[in-house]
Amino acid sequence: MREGVDAENYYRQLYERTPSMLHSIDAAGRLVGVSAAWLARLGYSREEVIGRASTDFLTAESARYAREVILPQYYLTGECKDVAYQMVAKNGDRVDVLLSATAERDENGKFVRSMAALTDVTERNRLAERLDQAKRMETIGQLAGGIAHDLNNILHIIRAECTLASDGATLAVRQDLASALDAVTSGERLARQLLTIAGKSNARPEQVDVDDALRAAARHVRPLLSKGVAFEQEHGAAGVAILIDRGQLEQALLNLLLNARDAVAGTGKIVLSSYVKRSGAPRLVIGVADTGVGMDAEALRRATEPLFTTKPHGTGLGLATTRRIVEAASGVLHLRSRVGEGTLVEMSYPLAEAAARPTAASLQTLEEDVSGPGEEAPEARCRPARTTTDQRA
Ligand SMILES: Nc1ncnc2c1ncn2[C@@H]1O[C@H](COP(=O)(O)OP(=O)(O)O)[C@@H](O)[C@H]1O
Ligand SMILES: [Mg+2]
Repeated sequence: MREGVDAENYYRQLYERTPSMLHSIDAAGRLVGVSAAWLARLGYSREEVIGRASTDFLTAESARYAREVILPQYYLTGECKDVAYQMVAKNGDRVDVLLSATAERDENGKFVRSMAALTDVTERNRLAERLDQAKRMETIGQLAGGIAHDLNNILHIIRAECTLASDGATLAVRQDLASALDAVTSGERLARQLLTIAGKSNARPEQVDVDDALRAAARHVRPLLSKGVAFEQEHGAAGVAILIDRGQLEQALLNLLLNARDAVAGTGKIVLSSYVKRSGAPRLVIGVADTGVGMDAEALRRATEPLFTTKPHGTGLGLATTRRIVEAASGVLHLRSRVGEGTLVEMSYPLAEAAARPTAASLQTLEEDVSGPGEEAPEARCRPARTTTDQRA
């Protein structure tokens, strides 16, 4: 008897302390045992998990897959191998695992419990995904570069011909040609996006006054918004400059604003804002927030992938280009979104050298600009740009 207890203790310890993610479920799918490594990886204590359904620790999609496909099969055959599941840690992190399990049955062949071993492949998957993306970027880049080059040549000719034909033409014809030229301008923008994706844009970084660039982009976008859309600007970075190609910054802003426009689809609010974040090294943050449709987890994860689009006529180039632009200026692109709750996209950049060491007085100004009420924000642009003035004096 005593020996039996010792042996059971021994095997329990062995199970719990083996440095692998192990779990066991009963016939009802409830967890009856988990290893310490399982608990550590997912951030739970034993009391929090024993007795709960194993599917409680999967994403909704994986749980459905388990219930509808894997578990029914498994209870029949008693085996499953390398099933790819996504688990959710207590802190919300996703953990990719491959699960293999075997069933333990009683003498009547009745299912008693399972023994499952889980391999954590989160890091491996992440690397594979990155590699995949890098390869795709390279291929797309080559293709895009070639297309952009030819496209530019064609557009160049059309622009020249339209301009020539305008001379001495009737008003009606001139109006038609003006629409044709608008189309050429859109085409040129597309060609620029392609060149940026291809890494072949000849970007010339310079010190760009952020709020100036914001206002320029806003001017371009406002006419494209329908009447039901409220467009607000909160300028909180008066006189702050970042080092970036001006055209590219405007392109990035346009991409974000156009996505916001598409997301609100006629009614809603778009807020374009800038502020200096001063926890740690100061960063300039430009935000585009919208109250539109938002993105689900999958779209959010893939949004900056080249050619990823959920729109019938989308190109999937906007965010990929934007990311390239931001990263080329040592910035970071950050997306936050939920279905039905709108989206916030932020670009955060290091300040340009000259503005990197703002005086105490200018920081004071910045703080006022950030915390001031929304209506006051546009006034910030009228104030003397103290940071830059100080530097230039
Ligand atoms: N503000 C936003 N709100 C909701 N979804 C967005 C937003 N911005 C981007 N997305 C999603 O990301 C995808 C990729 O965007 P983008 O690269 O600009 O390409 P496109 O606009 O041509 O689809 C969009 O199709 C959409 O699904
Ligand atoms: Mg877009």
